[in-house]
Amino acid sequence: MKALVYHGPKKVSVDTVPDPKIEKLTDVIIKLTTTNICGSDLHMYEGRTDVEKGKILGHENLGEVVEVGKAVDTVKKGDKVVLPFNIGCGFCANCEHGLTGYCLTCADPKVMPGMAGAAYGFAGMGPYQGGQAQYLRVPYADFNCLQLPPDVDEKENDYVMLSDIFPTGWHSTRLANLEAGQSIVIYGAGPVGLMAAMSARIQGAAQIFVVDGQEDRLALAKQIGATPINTKDGEIGDQIREATGGWGADCGAECIGYQCHNSKGKEVPNLVMNALVDAVKATGQIGVVGVFVPQDPGSDDKLAQKGQIAFDMGKFWFKGQKVGTGQCNVKAYNRRLRDLIHQGKANPSIIISHSLPLSEAPDAYKHFDNRDHGWTKVILKPNAA
Ligand SMILES: NC(=O)c1ccc[n+]([C@@H]2O[C@H](COP(=O)([O-])OP(=O)(O)OC[C@H]3O[C@@H](n4cnc5c(N)ncnc54)[C@H](O)[C@@H]3O)[C@@H](O)[C@H]2O)c1
Ligand SMILES: [Zn+2]
Ligand SMILES: [Zn+2]
Repeated sequence: MKALVYHGPKKVSVDTVPDPKIEKLTDVIIKLTTTNICGSDLHMYEGRTDVEKGKILGHENLGEVVEVGKAVDTVKKGDKVVLPFNIGCGFCANCEHGLTGYCLTCADPKVMPGMAGAAYGFAGMGPYQGGQAQYLRVPYADFNCLQLPPDVDEKENDYVMLSDIFPTGWHSTRLANLEAGQSIVIYGAGPVGLMAAMSARIQGAAQIFVVDGQEDRLALAKQIGATPINTKDGEIGDQIREATGGWGADCGAECIGYQCHNSKGKEVPNLVMNALVDAVKATGQIGVVGVFVPQDPGSDDKLAQKGQIAFDMGKFWFKGQKVGTGQCNVKAYNRRLRDLIHQGKANPSIIISHSLPLSEAPDAYKHFDNRDHGWTKVILKPNAA
C-alpha cells in the first residue's frame, strides 16, 4: 500500500510499504477514506520529537472496515467508523475511568517510567503505525471504533474531526471548567483552538476570545462566533480585562503548546502559559491541551531543552487559579459530539481549507508547517480514485 513515511526533519514521502495485517484476534483493518494532518504531526515533522524514522504518520482516521479479527464482536466488514487518535483497551484501570488517553495496556513502558497512553503514528506513544496510508490496523476494535450514522457520506468531513481536534477542543473547555454564561480566552486559532471556540459556543459561553497572529485563522474564529484578537495589536491581558469588567476571562484554554512564538516568530516556550495566567481572572481555570514535551533537545531555550518553562507561579498562586493538562481522552466525548454533528448542531468541517490525495501530502506538510495563508486544515483522501 501507499503511506506517508517520516524520514527525518522536514523529510516525508509517500512510499510503498507492506499492508497492515490482523495481529491479534481483537483487531480490524480499515481502508482509510479520510485522514487529516494535525498540528501534532508538525512537532514530529520538524524533528522536534524522538519519533523514529520509518514511522507512518497520521492519527486522525476515518474509514471502512475491510477485515475483522475472529474475536471482534460488534464491528462488521463494510462499517464506516472513526477512530480516536488514542488507542485504548477498554479494560485497564485508566480506560475504566474514561481516561483512554492514558491506557495502561496499550502503552509502551520503555518510553518513560510511569508514562501511559498510546496513539497511531505518534512519538512516544507506542509502536502503532499511522493512518496517512491506504490501510490501518486498529487494536481492540470493539472499543475503539465509533460507528457513524447513514449521513456519513454527506458529513464525512465533519465526522473525521471526531478523531482528535473536535474532542480535544472540547476537552480544553472541560479542563477549564467553562460554564454557560461565562467568558473564555482561547490561545491559538489553529484547528484545535478553533474547535475549542466551537465547543465553547455550543456550551453557551457568553464571550469567547481567540488569540492568534494569523489573519486567516482569526477570520474563521469570527465565523465560529468568537471575538478574534490579533497578537500584533498589543497587550492581550489589558484588552481582555477591558472587555470583562476589569477582572479577566472566567477561564482560559491553551491550544498552542511548547512551540508557541512571539510576533517576530521566535519560540518563547513560557509566553502563552504566562499570558493565560495574566488574562484569566483570579480563581479561574486553565485547560492546557497544546503539547508540552518532557525534553526538547532541538530548542534554543536552555530550560525547554529539559522540558521546563519559567512559569509565573507567584501570580498563578496569588490568583488562586487551577490548571488541567494532557492528551484528550477522545472516547469520553466522541459519541456525544458525533450526535451534535448528526443533529446539525456542530459543523467542524468549516475549518477545512484543503482536501487532497495522499500523493500531495508531502507538499501539504510544507504549507501547513509554514502556516501559509489559507492552509488552515488539510484532509487527505488516501483511496480516492
Ligand atoms: N492534548 C491533545 O490531545 C492534543 C490533540 C491535538 C493537538 N494537540 C496540540 O494542540 C496544539 C495545537 O494544534 P493545532 O493543530 O491547532 O496546531 P497549529 O500549529 O496549526 O496551531 C497553533 C496556532 O497557534 C498560533 N500561535 C503560535 N504562537 C502563538 C502565540 N504566542 N500567541 C497566539 N497564537 C500563537 C499559531 O499561529 C497557530 O495558528 C499543538 O501543540 C498540538 O500538538 C493536542
Ligand atoms: Zn491530531
Ligand atoms: Zn486501557
